[in-house]
Amino acid sequence: MEKMQQAKIRDLLKTKETGKECLVRGWVRTKRGNKNINFIALNDGSVIHSIQVVVEVAQFSEELLKQITTGACIEVKGTLVDSPASGQPVEIQAKEIIVFGTSDPETYPLQKKGHSLEFLREIAHLRPRTNTFGAILRIRHAMAFAIHKYFNDNGFYYLHAPIITGSDAEGAGALFRVSILDPKNPPLKPDGSVDFSEDFFGKETKLTVSGQLQAELGALALSLVYTFGPTFRAENSNTPRHLAEFWMIEPEMAFYDIVDNMDLAEDFLKYLIRYALENCMDDLEFLNKMYDIELIERLKFITENDFIRLGYTEAVDILKASGQQWEFPVDWGTDLQAEHERYLVEQHFHKPVILTDYPKEIKAFYMKMNEDNKTVRAMDVLFPKIGEIIGGSQREENLERLKNRIHELGIPEKDIWWYLDTRKFGTAPHSGFGLGFERLILFVTGMSNIRDVIPFPRTPKNAEF
Ligand code: 4AD
Ligand code: MG
Repeated sequence: MEKMQQAKIRDLLKTKETGKECLVRGWVRTKRGNKNINFIALNDGSVIHSIQVVVEVAQFSEELLKQITTGACIEVKGTLVDSPASGQPVEIQAKEIIVFGTSDPETYPLQKKGHSLEFLREIAHLRPRTNTFGAILRIRHAMAFAIHKYFNDNGFYYLHAPIITGSDAEGAGALFRVSILDPKNPPLKPDGSVDFSEDFFGKETKLTVSGQLQAELGALALSLVYTFGPTFRAENSNTPRHLAEFWMIEPEMAFYDIVDNMDLAEDFLKYLIRYALENCMDDLEFLNKMYDIELIERLKFITENDFIRLGYTEAVDILKASGQQWEFPVDWGTDLQAEHERYLVEQHFHKPVILTDYPKEIKAFYMKMNEDNKTVRAMDVLFPKIGEIIGGSQREENLERLKNRIHELGIPEKDIWWYLDTRKFGTAPHSGFGLGFERLILFVTGMSNIRDVIPFPRTPKNAEF
């Protein structure tokens, strides 16, 4: 006999062809019923909805039915029929059931519904089985796919930046070291410092904070490239918007100036949000209902409105004139905090804002200096509920000016001689930006803590799963 193919619950719930035999496998969400008939809600993760399996108690052994509890993994063969119950088009009339894995109701942590997000973080190994995390993980997948699609359709090449590096792209100093030296007894130089020449790579190495410097090398050959990979920051920021390990998308474009860069960032973000609205509506509707009643409206609003473009100096004037009490006082020269960014977006403009021309002191060494010699061609995209979602800039393509800047900041030339070489050989005006993938997912899902939009978050004192 021909082996029966497993059907996805997503496809069964859409089909009009009832009366057919089908085979499904998945995890039991609930079982209810009476002594004659049982109803199992079965979910296989292909879609937020579970399918109802109808079980005539008399046709199965008591032993088997006892094993079918919340969390158990089962296989069901049966007939797909129109469902008399409201809210579901079809259900399965069970003929054969196999239990792959039981789940003790006394100890299964997801036995009951309605756990807090905080509790679910403590069981990150099981939370993908909840509706909430199923929805988030499917949206996360859809966004990753849409990112590759957008760039591929627009002539960009995917460049893989290294994860282990010897350079600090952002100059922020928040790096995780990578070493095989014995931490208790490392080789020392005569001056007492650690001798990294004996380490694996023959030099001191770290986990990357950004793939930008390598993306620039790619852009100055392939014109349009992007990276999409994990990045690591050892900053001790315990906020709902920071992770120690997060994914970043970094497009880098030769011959783009700061305006081209802003145009791309705006078009890219709108495309991604439109993609979510067109492809993830089941999951968005669930999140809209459960967590954020304005979510879908907010997403539509972003796709339909132009972003405000504004200089840092004007932004500071607005913030100072606002009469708000800030936790971090603001004045020209200070870095903007989430409270300032969100005020501009949520209370002043009621739209996303792209801020440009920040003071050079608060931005990285590679940004192109403006004529005033005080500000750089930086651009941060600020979003409602999030604050900064993208950070980018036009790059300094002039070798002398770039060298002056790194000397000013005390960055050793020997660490980035290869980066400086691109300014020596066929330099070109170019620009790029970095989108924090989890900040995007926060925005698209309406969740409020970044720990809830990555499967296994890495934050200070937390790397369990
Ligand atoms: O503004 P950042 O630090 O910019 C860069 O790394 C540049 N090299 C990007 C570029 O021009 N190619 O980081 C970019 C984005 C931020 O806007 C934010 O969305 C996200 O990365 N981000 C974080 N996301 C989660 N946790 C953290 N600790 C993050 N730090 C930055
Ligand atoms: Mg930034």
